[in-house]
Parts: sequence; C-alpha cells; structure tokens
Amino acid sequence: MSKICLCLTADTINRNLEILNKYRKFADLAELRVDCLNPDERLYIRRFPELARLPVILTIRRDVDGGFYTGGEGARVKLFARGLAFANADSRLNFAYVDIEDDLAIPSLEEAARTFGTRIIRSYHDINGSPEDISEKIRSMRRSGDEIVKVAVMANNTNDVLNMYRASMNFSGFDKILICMGHYGIYSRILAERFGSFMSYSSALSEDDVHSAKGQLDTQELAELYRFRKISKKTKVYGVIGNPLKSSVSPWFFNTIFNMEETDAVYVPFPANSFNDLLELASELDIQGLSVTVPYKETVLSWLSGCSPAVHSIGACNTMYRSSGGWFGDNTDSSGFSASILAFTERKNLKRQKITIIGAGGLSRAVAAEIYRLGGKAVILNRTVHKAKNIASQYGFRWGGLDNHGAELMYKYNDIIIQTTSVGMEGYELSAPEDHGTSDSQEHSGTANRDFSRDPLDIYSFSGKEAVMDLIYTPPVTPFLKRAMAAGCRTINGYDMVIRQACLQYAHFTGGEIPKKLLLQLNNHLPSDKMFKEANL
Ligand code: ATR
Repeated sequence: MSKICLCLTADTINRNLEILNKYRKFADLAELRVDCLNPDERLYIRRFPELARLPVILTIRRDVDGGFYTGGEGARVKLFARGLAFANADSRLNFAYVDIEDDLAIPSLEEAARTFGTRIIRSYHDINGSPEDISEKIRSMRRSGDEIVKVAVMANNTNDVLNMYRASMNFSGFDKILICMGHYGIYSRILAERFGSFMSYSSALSEDDVHSAKGQLDTQELAELYRFRKISKKTKVYGVIGNPLKSSVSPWFFNTIFNMEETDAVYVPFPANSFNDLLELASELDIQGLSVTVPYKETVLSWLSGCSPAVHSIGACNTMYRSSGGWFGDNTDSSGFSASILAFTERKNLKRQKITIIGAGGLSRAVAAEIYRLGGKAVILNRTVHKAKNIASQYGFRWGGLDNHGAELMYKYNDIIIQTTSVGMEGYELSAPEDHGTSDSQEHSGTANRDFSRDPLDIYSFSGKEAVMDLIYTPPVTPFLKRAMAAGCRTINGYDMVIRQACLQYAHFTGGEIPKKLLLQLNNHLPSDKMFKEANL
C-alpha cells in the first residue's frame, strides 16, 4: 500500500519534531528537508531518526529542484555524509531512506547507505515541466533492485498527468515514487496507490512555517478526509471535474459520507484544462461518476451516450455516471435548486412571483428552467446580454444587461433575486466577457469600466423586501449577500442547494439513498476553514 510521507520543512530540529508529534498518527514516514534547516541546525541531523521514532528520509533539496539548498555540491555531499555517519546496528536509529538525485554520482555515499540498510531514493525533479518520455526516464534511472526511483515533475496540464499515469502502468515489481506537482496533479497525490507510487508527500499545511511543493495536500486531510491508507485497486473512484475547483464542497461531502458509511470509495478533485484528456484518464482509472462544474457543464453534452430530460431542456449537465451504454448525464442542479428555493420561500410553487436571475451560464439555465416549471416569471440579467436573451427567450422571460436599464427592469421583478454568477466566489479569477452584445438586447448595456470582481449587482439598491439567494457558498457571505442582509432582506447562500443536489448525485453514483440519520450528522463534520486545503496553487 502507498504510504503517507510528512515533509518536515521547519528551520529547526525541535520545531520539526513538534510538527511531527502533532501529525504523527497521520503519517507512515517523514522527510527531513535539511535544506530548510538553519545552517547551525544542520550539524545535528544525525540524531533526527532516533528522536523521530518513525522512518525518516534524508533529503537536501537543491534550489534548482525546488528546494532551498544554494551551497556547492561538495558541501552538500559532506552534509549527506554527516547524516549517514556513525551508522547504528539498530537500523531504526539511522535514516531509513536517503534521497540522492539522479545526477549525483558519489559511490562512497551510496555504499555507506547500503551497508547500513538506508534505502536510496534515486530522484529526478523538473519544477517546470515533464520529460517527453517518462517511461524512458524511469527506465534510465533504475540502477539496482533495492533502489526506489522517484520522478517528480510539474504537470502543466491534464495531458501531463495522463502521461504519468500511462508511464506508471508500464512498470511493476519495484518501488517507485511518481508525482505530478502543481494544481493539475493534485489527484495523482491522492490516488498515489493507483499511480503505482510507493508514497505520497504531504505537509502540515495548517502550520504557518511550513513550505510545501505546489499542489501538495495537507497530511491530516489526506489521511482522514481522503482515507488515503484505505485506497486500493478495488476502491471505487468518483470526483469533480472543473477548472478552478478551489471552492468545491463536494470532496468534503462525499468523502465524509463514504467514511460514515464505511464504503470503499473515494471522491477526488479533478482540476482539468482538457475535458477530453480527463475523460481518457477517467476510463483508464475506471472512474465511476463525475460531478461536472465550471466551465464544462455544456462541454460534457457531446460526451454523453444518454441523458435525463432535465439535461435536454436545460442544455447543461452537472452529473455524469456510468451506464451500460457509456456515460449518462443528469442535471441535479435543477432539482437541488427547486427544493432549496421552495423551502427558503416556504412555498409549494412560484406562481405570481416576479424573479430576477443574475447570470446566464450553466447554473442560470437550470435555475430558469425550474422557475418556469414552478410557474414563476423572471428577468435574466447578464454581463453578456445575448446569453441572457438565449435563455430568457426559451421561457418567455425578459432579459437585459448588468446596467442601469437592467436595474430598472429589476425593480419590477424583485420578489426574489437569485445570483448565479461566480462573482464573489473564493478563488475566482475575474474572467473577460466574450462580448457584451448590446445589439440584440432589450436594453442598453453600460457595463464598460465597471468592477465586477466582487458584486455583480452594484447598480441595484435592495429595499429589504426581496428574498435573496446567492448560489455561491464559499465564502458563505459574498459582498452581494452582505449588502442584501444589511438592507434587511431574507437571504440564503448556495450551501443548502449544493447539499440537496449532491444527495441526488450520490444516488446516481451509488444507486442508493443517503440515510437521513447520516445527513443530520453531516453538520458536525463541517470543516471550520476550507473545504480542502491545497498549497501554493
Ligand atoms: P456556471 O455553470 O456556474 O453558471 P458559467 O457557465 O461559466 O458557469 O457562467 C458563469 C456566469 O458568470 C456567466 O453568466 C458569466 O457572465 P458572462 O456570460 O458575461 O461571461 C458570469 N460572470 C463570470 N464572470 C463575471 C464577471 N466578472 N462579471 C459579471 N459576470 C460574470
């Protein structure tokens, strides 16, 4: 089984021991990053394995490989020698592993390591990209049967991760560590067992003085939320595909439920810059089901062999799961949304309700279809007006831009206001509109020079009578929602809807319902800070 390694990157031995003691139960081994230690602390590294009481890797990472060591190679070799010196017959008192870069050839060092049972990790790092042929790289690095080959490369896209996975499939029968660094590689760290990796490096990200490689996960989260040590070849894999994925609640939701039910399944974030490449990986990894989010809710349609009526009418899909004929798609946003809005407004339908929908993306489509189905009347306002028109005209709704004329329309449609854009979302990067499309709008669009980074509706003043729903849930209160609250409006964020729709996804993925009792217990497991912690994105 793949192991969890806790990287220790503090600047003193004592601080590293403190961190190790705090996170000990989540780790199988630790890596002492000597390059992060203060120079005078480096004199005492030899005692570390004894103090750690856990197998420890001795690593002195050079700056070219993403570390902090800037001295000469001669001095670095001396440091290695210091770490391996005075080897003890009781191997638990020695470093269990030593990380020696592929281009460092010091036979005496290797000999010393071998003599006293310190395993060599023969490593190759590329902090900018990956080699053309990863299999060839692995092959060329293998020197003897007892060494572990480590290839850690920066995944600049989904294809890089796919290549790593395929390379891993070419080898068996010896230990190797294969890591895709960066945002796109995060799931290679969670699914290390599937990627044939001997271990996964992680860090205590909650500690302020910890350095971590790009895309590395928090040690506790890897162990507890993702139940890393239980992931085997038989574990069913589900996940969420999108870009970016920083604020998705789904990994927390599904993994917590799987954990409570003791189901052999894991739910993984799959940030992807290419839907096609991720689906290839999905078939090779035998992924059973995917939640689909921004920007793929419409892209996914051409990959489905069948879909629900909701997908048909909305033209967007947020859930895909395996069926006998291929991928089947549903849109659980719509049913999740209607359940949430009816509960929020304490109504059985939306008849006689005048509603404003902000945004005209995939989520807006689902919202508009449900409002229509429930008998409401709406205006759709969007930065890019023609997209609002496309959706609105399907249901006989009105449309406009996010401008003063849009605001005027809103005053007539303000029983309920529903915010569906990503503006105000944590980690959301401001996107450029395709075009504002004034020519086909019912109203003018005066969006030029406006800052849409926080509140998409700064042109509108709340009276306090509106019921306001922001479908964002991280942060729980967006600037838009804050303004509505300050005016005295009744408000709700997207958490209620997302949980309702996730329950429906769960039913598609697993063929079963989540027991009510477990749902009630969910709130006790709510993470206090982020949904999942990821370093240095
Ligand atoms: P989703 O599936 O979550 O709805 P989407 O399909 O990418 O995501 O749609 C995003 C919505 O957020 C769109 O209405 C988009 O407006 P444009 O159609 O003009 O792109 C809106 N949006 C995104 N960034 C925005 C910004 N900075 N200001 C205003 N609206 C924005």
